[in-house]
Amino acid sequence: MNSINVNGTDFSVKDEELELSLLDYLRERRFLTGTKNGCEKGLCGSCTVVIGGKALRACKTPVKKAVGTSVVTIEGMEGPGGELHPLQKAFMDAGAIQCGFCTPGMVMSAYALLLQNPEPSREEIRKALRGNLCRCTGYQQIIDAVELAAKIVREQAIPVEAGCER
Ligand code: FES
Ligand code: FES
Repeated sequence: MNSINVNGTDFSVKDEELELSLLDYLRERRFLTGTKNGCEKGLCGSCTVVIGGKALRACKTPVKKAVGTSVVTIEGMEGPGGELHPLQKAFMDAGAIQCGFCTPGMVMSAYALLLQNPEPSREEIRKALRGNLCRCTGYQQIIDAVELAAKIVREQAIPVEAGCER
């Protein structure tokens, strides 16, 4: 039996679902619509999820490749009591959200970055987010938000891992 772990819960994957993109699977079979469909061509980053600590485009990842892995989506970022992840809070505090369509993908790319590098420079943040397009903010506030979240996680010794109590 094929299975996939999404935000800490195991789901069995039906044979007919193996050919779907992970984006369609998450949105249409798991009803996790926080992962956005901006282009379905791997160009905009709005569908970014994290697998094995790495940011991946769900629209270009077939479910069959994700079988046996653990996927984290934006819905999995909050803590058990619904408390927001420091990245989510920082995006709000830094004014990095306007229409919000790009935000889940931005947060997930930033999450993968912070897992690997807890003290990224602005240049490293820019590089990690270069595949994520935003039509609204002009990017500066988004970079500010990631810098702020990294600082808060370091200074307050908050766990960066998704789904942790904070
Ligand atoms: S929807 Fe996947 S990169 Fe645009
Ligand atoms: S906030 Fe609107 S696309 Fe980024």
